[in-house]
This record gives sequence, C-alpha cells and structure tokens, in this order.
Amino acid sequence: SNPGRRASPVIGFQSVPLQLAEDFDRVVVAEGYEAKPFFSWGDPVVDGAVAWRADGQNTWQEQQLQAGQNHDGMAFFPFADAPNDHGLLVINHEYTNDTLHPQGPTLTRSADGRLLRPADEVRKEQMAHGVSVIEIRRDARGEWQRIFPSRYNRRLTMHTPMQLTGPVAGTEWVKTRDDPTGLQVLGTLNNCSMGKTPWGTYLVCEENWHNYFVNRNTQDWQARTSHRRHGIATGAHSSKYCWESVDPRFDATPHPDEPHQGYVNEPHRFGWVVEFDPFDPLAIPQKRTALGRYARECATLSLAQDGRVAIYSGDDTRGEYIYKFVTEAAYQPAQPLTNRQLLDNGTLYVARFNEDGSGDWLPLVQGQGGLTVRNGFFTQADVLVNTRAAADILGATPMDRPEWVAVDPHSREVYVTLTNNIERGIKTDQPLNAANPRCENHHGQILRWREQGDNPTAIQFTWEIFLLAGKTDSPEVPHNERGTIIGDVFSSPDGLWFDADGRLWIETDFDDGEEPYTRMGTNQLLCANTDTREVKRFLVGPRGCEITGLTATPDGKTLWLNIQHPGLSYPASDGKTRPRSTTVVVTKRDGGVIGS
Ligand code: FEO
Ligand code: CA
Ligand code: CA
Ligand code: CA
Repeated sequence: SNPGRRASPVIGFQSVPLQLAEDFDRVVVAEGYEAKPFFSWGDPVVDGAVAWRADGQNTWQEQQLQAGQNHDGMAFFPFADAPNDHGLLVINHEYTNDTLHPQGPTLTRSADGRLLRPADEVRKEQMAHGVSVIEIRRDARGEWQRIFPSRYNRRLTMHTPMQLTGPVAGTEWVKTRDDPTGLQVLGTLNNCSMGKTPWGTYLVCEENWHNYFVNRNTQDWQARTSHRRHGIATGAHSSKYCWESVDPRFDATPHPDEPHQGYVNEPHRFGWVVEFDPFDPLAIPQKRTALGRYARECATLSLAQDGRVAIYSGDDTRGEYIYKFVTEAAYQPAQPLTNRQLLDNGTLYVARFNEDGSGDWLPLVQGQGGLTVRNGFFTQADVLVNTRAAADILGATPMDRPEWVAVDPHSREVYVTLTNNIERGIKTDQPLNAANPRCENHHGQILRWREQGDNPTAIQFTWEIFLLAGKTDSPEVPHNERGTIIGDVFSSPDGLWFDADGRLWIETDFDDGEEPYTRMGTNQLLCANTDTREVKRFLVGPRGCEITGLTATPDGKTLWLNIQHPGLSYPASDGKTRPRSTTVVVTKRDGGVIGS
C-alpha cells in the first residue's frame, strides 16, 4: 500500500435514504445525530440589529446588521483557551433570492426600454451579500449559542471598504472615477467558498461577480477581453440584478469624458481572494491580486515541508480551469505579521491534465510560455487581470465546472469536485478528455491527484478519477448518466472537505425538481472512504436547497453546514413562513466524533 497514506477512519453511521417527496421540508440526519437550525438569514449579527421580519419588510439599514442570504462557505475559528467550546463562525453570503423583498424584486421599464430597480431594494441586496462573523459558545448544557452582542460580530457587505494589494493594486487596471488610486474598493460580491490560513485569517472568494456588471458599448465589450471573457452583460441587456440602474459603478460602459473612463475598471476590482482576520473587527479586508482574477470558487491551502503555501482554486464556469498559487516566502509560525504579506508574492499556475494520468502546473508568468508583449501581456498585472485568457494560451485543460478542492490531511492528495457540465462534448472548445470523460455531463465527477514527491509546490502530478457521480449503472440509464459510485448515489458534487481524521465529506448542488434529477432526491451531505471509495449518505436537506459550507470544532464533535436557498418554508418548516438560508449545527447524541 501507499506509504504516505494511513488507513481510512471508520465511517460508522447508517445511510440516510433519499427524500423524493415534493413537499419534503426538513433536514434528516443519520440516526444517533442531531441537526438543528443555528443561524439564518436575518438573524441579528452586529450590535443594534433588530429581529428578522417574516414579511420581508426589514429595511436595508436593518439588513446591514443582520445575517445575509445564501450562506455558503464558512469556517470555525476557535479561541485558544476553549477551542472546542468557544469560537468565531465566519459565513459567506453568496447572493440574494426573491425572498429578500416582501413581494420579490420590483422591475420597471424606462421610456427607452431599460430595466429599472428601486434604490432601496438594490441597497438591501447589496447589504445581504458578503460575510458574517459571529461569536459562538457552548452553554452549561452543552448547547451552542450565538453571542449577541459581541465585539467580534461583524458584517462585510458590498459597502465595506477593502484594500487592493499585490501586483494589480494601484495599476491603471483598477482605477475608477471614485478611486483614482486604484487601491480602495467598496465591498465583496458573490462570496461562494473560502479558505483558512494557518496564520489565522479567512479567505473569501469572489465567484460570479460578472452577473453584476454591464458594458453597454458592444464594440468596446467585444475588444475588451477582461469584460467579454467573463460574460459581463452588454448592449441592451441589463445585468442579472440590474443594480446599474441606480448605482452607476455597476455600469462599466467606458465614459471617455470622465476620470479613468468612469467605471470601466470596476469589474477588475472583483474576482479576487479577500483576506481578513476575524479576530480583529477593525481589520480592513485585503484583496490579494497575486492569486489571479476569475470566477473563483474556493482557496484551499496545503503547507509544504519548506513552509511555502500552495492554494488550490477552481474557476467554476463550464470549460474553465483549476489553479494553484504558490507563495514565494515560507509561512513562519513565530512571525505572525510577516505572514500577513505572504499572499502578495508568489507564482500562479494552471493545471493541464494529460491523457496518460500525468499532469502539469503551467506557470502564469509574464514573459513566459507565450504570455508576452506580442500577445498583449506587458506586465504581470495584465496576466493576473486576464487570468483565463492567459491560461488559454498555455493550453490548460478546460474542466467540467471546478468547484471545491480538499486536501487529505494525511497523504496530502488533492481532491476536486467537477460539478457537472452540460456543454461537455457539445461545444467544440470543450471536447471529451480523460479527466472530463462524459458527453453532456449532468452529474459530475471527483478527481484526485498526487503532487510529485507529495510536495504541494511541485510542478508535476499524477491524477485519476476518484468517482463518476450519477445513477447506478444499468441498461435503462443513459450512458452519460451512469456513475461509478460504490454505495449511495448522488449527483453534482460541489462542497468537498476532509475532517481531521481523513473522512472525505461531499456536498451536492443539483436542481432537485428537474430532470434528470427527479429520482435523485433532495440535496445531500455524504461521506466517502478514500481507500475503499465507499460512499454513505449522512444527511439530506429540504426541497430546493443546496447543501454547502462545512466546518467543525478541532475535536470533530461539532459540525456546521449550510442549507442554501431552501425552497419551501425551512427552517420554520410550517408550510407558510418564507424560507431562509440557514447554518445547521450537527452533534452526535453520544458526544462522539461526527461520522465515527
Ligand atoms: Fe457558488 Fe460554484 O458555486
Ligand atoms: Ca459551490
Ligand atoms: Ca454549485
Ligand atoms: Ca449555490
């Protein structure tokens, strides 16, 4: 057997069955466990916050102090003196739902046909994005409680001042009418998954930021790779949320008469990793441009023997790539302040998965491998703002929507979810290949790789498919829907996380009411043994939700996960209250380790 690998830990629970009922509106967890709603959209966070209103009438000023919507990636930061009983829970709020407003969003049309939004609604949506930091503690009965008020509790929103750092900071790429320095950004957007550093900071990832911008000048848009390659709206189209109708910085149409052409560069100020220290409520979040700009799903760390840090990320769009950033300097446990600069210098790589099971990390460095002046890359900032276009030139492998990356704590093997890709084998720029082997891929797959020498900073690796998700292999199942799962079936893996013992936890995100998913039940949390590849279903969520965000106490005895955008009335589950994205706390009734 493999020397770097220890035997996989026991997965001791009994599988939970699929939930097929259309009105299924609860969370069901394996027998012997308890799963309770813990923190929902609208719950008070910052001192002065008022209670959530079930009629959607909370104002934007109230929303600013309450939990946002669409809880996604999160992490638990323990206090050193009681690490399993007291800590900060940091939770991303990815985007907003129609439930934010009393009767859904209001859309009207101007005389020239443009969509318009009320300013108060837009402001409320902006305040429901970002991050919550909440202090939490176990009480005398052992129950987890949210501490309110707390000096640590904090909301980051679309209006929180943040700082750009690294090679792109202060360049022409990021100067706007409001910020001629190119150093100060307001807010963070579409915060999907995350990362956590050994030096005590949280990494917020900016995923589908392109949905918030429009460049009305189609000719300019066509020529501007940094807009077009990301699918920013253009022409007569509005952005998905139509914020530009009342907030001009989301209109990225160039205005040559204005300083820095207005807001044409505003979209370049999103798509980054944002780092902040949750224990410092006044810390200004830092957007780390050295890591590149794309629709970043996650930022998963792996520490090398020499102290350098590798950060793995997926670009979750059909046919996009997997990246790794390696810091130039080493992490120094005794130098906490030095570590705060680590992410500003390093090398960004993109993955090529060769057909023979080998793989290469291709450096995205100006002047190398075609990233030259001749091809329009004059500086490293040009490469980082246009990460996708640079990766195209290097010949990276287009993947089936890379979502989360997880690193085995014992073997340091790396796992990634490729959630699904209905364009695979259909669009000519996404041909079938060994790593993305199914045409019109509805169910996704999980890949794993081993870096050469088990060194996270290596530039070569070997990879294999860990499993193909999908239905049980049988003649009536279409070929492209057949999975290779040993155990409980699932579709569209998204969240992926190793617990400290080495259990691999898998979270799903598929459209549970739609074909071809109607027989796959509601979304789920599953647990896999990486030696035997056996998969067991641990928890199922209510109809309409995605299961995401996974973190635990250091002893593994408390687990938190997120129920994102439930469809019916969860967590009230009374058939009438509007649904709320919710963090759920899971414990084992006998007080044991989750999954054991
Ligand atoms: Fe926000 Fe790719 O999930
Ligand atoms: Ca995701
Ligand atoms: Ca997803
Ligand atoms: Ca989602």
